[in-house]
Amino acid sequence: MKRFTIIPVLLTLIFSGCKSKLDRQIDDIVSKMTLEEKALLVVGVGNESRWHNDVPRLDLNSILPAVAGGTTPIDRLGIPYILLSDGPAGVNLESYRKGYSTRTYYCTQFPIGTLLASTWNTELVQTVGSAIGDEALAYGVDVLLGPGMNIHRHPLNGRNFEYYSEDPLLCGLTAAAYVNGVQSHGVAACPKHFAANNQETNRMGNDARVSERALREIYYRGFEFMVKESHPRTLMTSYNKINGISVSERRDAVTDMLRNKWGFDGVVMSDWYGGDHPTAQIHAGNDMLQPGRQWQIDSIIDGVKKGTLAETDLDISVRRILKLIYTSPRTIEHPTNDAHLDEHANITRQSATEGMVLLKNDANALPLTSGTKNIALFGCASYDFIPGGTGSGDVYRAYTVSMLEGLQNAGYTIDASMAALYGAFIQKSVETNKAAAPGRYAELTRIRPDEMPLTAQQINTQVQRADVAIVTLGRTSGEYYDRPSADYDLSAAERTMLQQVCGAFHAVGKKVIVVLNIGGVIETASWKDLPDAILCAWQPGQEGGNSVADILSGKANPSGRLPMTFPIRLSDVGSSANFPIDQTSENVSVALRRTDIGEKNVDYTNYDEGIYVGYRWFDTRSMEVSYPFGYGLSYTTFDYSNAKVKQHKDKITVTVTITNSGKVAGKEVVQLYAAAPKSQLDKPLKELRAYAKTPIIQPGKSETITLTFNRNDLSSYDEQQHKWILAPGTYQLLIAASSRDIRQTLTLDI
Ligand code: GLC
Repeated sequence: MKRFTIIPVLLTLIFSGCKSKLDRQIDDIVSKMTLEEKALLVVGVGNESRWHNDVPRLDLNSILPAVAGGTTPIDRLGIPYILLSDGPAGVNLESYRKGYSTRTYYCTQFPIGTLLASTWNTELVQTVGSAIGDEALAYGVDVLLGPGMNIHRHPLNGRNFEYYSEDPLLCGLTAAAYVNGVQSHGVAACPKHFAANNQETNRMGNDARVSERALREIYYRGFEFMVKESHPRTLMTSYNKINGISVSERRDAVTDMLRNKWGFDGVVMSDWYGGDHPTAQIHAGNDMLQPGRQWQIDSIIDGVKKGTLAETDLDISVRRILKLIYTSPRTIEHPTNDAHLDEHANITRQSATEGMVLLKNDANALPLTSGTKNIALFGCASYDFIPGGTGSGDVYRAYTVSMLEGLQNAGYTIDASMAALYGAFIQKSVETNKAAAPGRYAELTRIRPDEMPLTAQQINTQVQRADVAIVTLGRTSGEYYDRPSADYDLSAAERTMLQQVCGAFHAVGKKVIVVLNIGGVIETASWKDLPDAILCAWQPGQEGGNSVADILSGKANPSGRLPMTFPIRLSDVGSSANFPIDQTSENVSVALRRTDIGEKNVDYTNYDEGIYVGYRWFDTRSMEVSYPFGYGLSYTTFDYSNAKVKQHKDKITVTVTITNSGKVAGKEVVQLYAAAPKSQLDKPLKELRAYAKTPIIQPGKSETITLTFNRNDLSSYDEQQHKWILAPGTYQLLIAASSRDIRQTLTLDI
């Protein structure tokens, strides 16, 4: 622990006591730098990549294999390089290094962002962030390129797994907790991608056409909460344009708002190869261009010489980068390579259980009874378990605990013949599907097997032998591609499997549990009546199978709540009219810069739904959904009572008593929504304004929970006046167990 305290103390000294000394040191360096050295510093060292054949200015792979980028060392002035590595679910570095043939350098794969948001537990998220920061520090990473925090605008976005929620408050507070965790070890976090990066289809060329109100209340809002609740030392802009201009070139967003209004004072970097005009990016306040190309260096030097880029603008970015470098672990601490993997494996196992969401539990099918010994395990994902998504958010982990292994570790018996059948089928099906995948798809994604058909005979054998059946449905997605619409629905083979297993097991009075090993929303309404219980396990990291077994066995009481709505049909989603559904194809593969040929949802996307995203859309239109935002069951029940509200100056404080009225200890997520009075601005029916996760409450015991928020949080953004307006009147404060399960109502007069 001694080591961990040294860094924050050092950084505090640097930031507080001798800050002026550091600034003077930086001014001195800047005064000695040539124009070329300044251009080299704001452009990354470059990397070997399939997209170009530049020669990197530093051989990153010989230092940290698979590290995403670095800053350029300036030896003449003794300026060292620092290293930037992905990603949100863990440090994304290869496990073997040149010259170290024996030793491995595994990283821990933690749960995906969506699962962390599903915990609604900022303390837990900070713990996970801290473990990731510890690993990054140990391996010599100075900037961790996470968290991913774009809004879940549409269920089919390929990267939703590494993003948090449809709601900006839950998104922003989860991200802030993650940032605080990572940075507690002196490693800089890098929240991304600022902003409105809500589709993968043509992400580098797409123009997100968003109203100012939707930007301020939804797509910028999460970043605003995050910046104000944490102190990120870096931030990454997104690839896309907003209303015609690349975000990394928008001074109004990156400087006027992010820095001057919200108080961000770190380094802003581009996404990799993002943006087209380096001089405009530097002028906008996007300080660093990653991973760095030679033409960008030339463009900056040329720009200053021709006067299209003020050298004072360049100097501002150089100073920010020097400050980041001289407060980075690399210039303070040497990597130990001691990544505490055992401790982190336990953290990922425990944290994953708290983000899993129990969607259905008829007649207390879960937890499994103590008499349960033999389990019939169906579904390819049971054996080929999915710990996370693909692309930069992947992790070179040492292992993945499958459902099979997790259940066996928990003492259950699984039929070995079924395991063998699935193993053989999975291998063959993956090979077939890889061969059939178009273009780069197989290279850039993780090809999944089809679902294995079951014979009546196989099922009947299992019915005889097993006490209960578990069916796992898996989905994976990732960077570069959005999900095809077929991915939202069950395949015919999955649906047949579910019908067969439920029919056979129910015929003899045995139960069926479905486990969803998914990274994003799938269709549930058409089949959720079939099984007795449904657990949404998400993609829970490398210990996933153990985490699921902890829940199924009752060792852990599920307390996750949905951070997004599960709609009935894709067409019910507000943005479905303006999303590239099945428009992803090789010619818009994200690795290629597509020229703007004017294809709707590919070259430009109209955010016609405005602020009405997720429950704001469904609740305001009183639409049926399959599972609502904020929903999740527990093995116990909670009663809400004695709600009170106090207003003191700008601060609103709500207290409510939560009583565990069931038989087992558990945690509750208390949600507070505000319903605004009628005003000249249209408003959603309700909006999340505060939430809190209780500590564990024992059966029969109570906790009084306090929820606080600022009265200005009730404001809406008036784009005619370009400012936030707090409408006077009587607000309903809805204290709830989900967005559609209101337990107590209070009124608040503004
Ligand atoms: C990307 C991703 C970004 C990642 C970066 C470095 O293409 O959009 O999230 O951090 O490259 O790998």
